[in-house]
Amino acid sequence: MTQTKEEILTSALPYIQRYEGKTFVIKYGGAAMTEASPYGSGHQGEGLKESFAKDVTLLKKIGINVVIVHGGGNAVTDIAKRLGMESRFVGGQRYTDTATLETVVMTLAGSVNKEVVALVNRAGGNAVGLCGIDNNLITAKKFAPKGYDLGLVGEVEQVNVDWLNKLIASGVMPVIAPIGVSAEGEVYNINADIAASAIAQKLGAEKLFFLTDTEGVMLEGELVPTLTNARAQQLIKQKVITGGMIPKVNAAFEALANGVNKVHLINGAAKHSLLLEIFTHEGVGTQIIREEKVFGNPKSGIVFRVSGIGNSGDEHPTKHDLLDLTVMTKQDVEDLMHLTDVLKHTDAKPLAGKHVTLIFQKPSLRTRVSFEVGVAQLGGTSLYLSNEGVGLGERESIEDVAKVLSSYSDCIVARLFDHNVLLGLAKYSSVPVVNALTDVGHPCQILADMYTIRQHGKLAPGMKVAFIGDGNNVAHSWLEMAAIYPMHLAIAAPAGYHPDPKILDYAVQSGISTIEILDDPRVAADSADVTYTDVWTSMGQEAEQEARKKAFQSFQVNKQLLQLAHPNALVMHCLPAHRGEEITSDAMDSAHSVVFDQAENRLHVQKAILTTLLGNSARFASSTEEDLLTTISHEQDQKYSENPEYDQKPGFHEEPTAVYHS
Ligand code: CP
Ligand code: NVA
Repeated sequence: MTQTKEEILTSALPYIQRYEGKTFVIKYGGAAMTEASPYGSGHQGEGLKESFAKDVTLLKKIGINVVIVHGGGNAVTDIAKRLGMESRFVGGQRYTDTATLETVVMTLAGSVNKEVVALVNRAGGNAVGLCGIDNNLITAKKFAPKGYDLGLVGEVEQVNVDWLNKLIASGVMPVIAPIGVSAEGEVYNINADIAASAIAQKLGAEKLFFLTDTEGVMLEGELVPTLTNARAQQLIKQKVITGGMIPKVNAAFEALANGVNKVHLINGAAKHSLLLEIFTHEGVGTQIIREEKVFGNPKSGIVFRVSGIGNSGDEHPTKHDLLDLTVMTKQDVEDLMHLTDVLKHTDAKPLAGKHVTLIFQKPSLRTRVSFEVGVAQLGGTSLYLSNEGVGLGERESIEDVAKVLSSYSDCIVARLFDHNVLLGLAKYSSVPVVNALTDVGHPCQILADMYTIRQHGKLAPGMKVAFIGDGNNVAHSWLEMAAIYPMHLAIAAPAGYHPDPKILDYAVQSGISTIEILDDPRVAADSADVTYTDVWTSMGQEAEQEARKKAFQSFQVNKQLLQLAHPNALVMHCLPAHRGEEITSDAMDSAHSVVFDQAENRLHVQKAILTTLLGNSARFASSTEEDLLTTISHEQDQKYSENPEYDQKPGFHEEPTAVYHS
């Protein structure tokens, strides 16, 4: 179906919102820069160079920080020829002697750089031309691959990122010639792909683009839209990827391994390919992605993570999932709790006409029932599918299941063994996906737990939460919460059962909370405000039950242990409990136990999660959303004025700022 101009323009909005303030590094080279000079006579209309200049200017004007690194190989060869110099190549690469270097500097940092700057400035892009010598922008050392001597060819050691960032912040678009300088003042010629990759890495760029003269990586005449490292190496072996494409692809993976989120190979010989790659769902080139970090959250750097109530990647840029807590902010958590309060006391039907499909590979009481009842209370419908009925990944691929369920449902709630399957569902479904527990996390549980702690007046920055038990899914979600809300989280688990170091690192690196991993439950319980435990043998680990009982025997939450905690400490358990194992009945049934409030709150918080996610989804017209929230707010205000004591428990000290966070 042909899109109208309005549709084309508005479909770019999610991408514009997403990339505002982000940095894109663009390697400019090939046909896009070697086409006849726009200054030359007889130049008609918009050429490739102008099209490129307009594209980068447009990106800059919508708030993307653009940094251009340019090549210019042909220009160097031309000038060398004109000067009667011979170009010498070693292993396919130019040998740079002193005279060649002189030519490289005068050409790249001179005529080529100034031409690019002038082009961009004509389009209104505020470009400033630089080379790596300026303010030691690129510190380099001699590059000596596998014993080749390429002369004065360098590799990047450092990039003066602070200065580059200052330039960007001042509103200019740096256009960089790939020339570096050593601490001793030796000047080096640097491959532009490698320089662009290094600069993108050091800047922590969102994206790195290589403009080439082909559509991207081609296989049997077809474009390869997505390329992982394993596949790339295979294609190099099969000689599908050859010549100059090999260093590009390798530079791309180097960039991905060092913090760049995505690399794109696009055809500089096609007009506006840059815009089409960025602002359309299908793109026009090859995108190069990490194997494991395909859906990764660059902020967390945790391999299997996806954003929390955030986006799941480029496939469906407007939908939001709840896969983990890593990109939820404190404000998000507070807003969710407030929305929970609101929904608890209204009979608003924000899910009217909506359908939620639950797909569960493991048993469940609380999660399943709270979602099903929650959806019904919000006016929607739900359907529970056990895995036997679906055969996720066996009877049918995850991708196909996700696509089919998306066409019937407005949301998919999944309880799965393998978190990667959840990531696959999220990637391929066009509707929000909620993690209802995987081997990696149980985010909905911890959101309900925070609400329960608040309900009991214990939620305060610095509260001590002692998690005593297995450092797996529930403990992981606590760690993610500790990266959001300031607390002292002490996790006591036997050796071999500590949390995943990547998730631990993520929480520690956030610097939000004090986090301890302990072998002694008594140290964890000491003066705790909350003592929390979970089963020693999680679903799917039944074969390890005996070994686990032995390993965990001194990690029981019992009356004795509770005596070490704060006298009013809450006793918490996500349930199901194995009474007599991880918790004794006297602890679980004690006056300070809130385990059944936790269970009940699963319902209230699930409702807020669903309202938030579906309210944000593209399928939900924004007017409906606003009407709904206005209605909810009014009802809430009325209830407050009718009954001032209305469930207004202390907890967060700040006044709730918004009913709803979008
Ligand atoms: N706490 C929890 O997730 O319980 P279920 O396994 O019963 O859903
Ligand atoms: N760790 C437990 C949590 C149950 C809610 C499990 O995965 O079985």
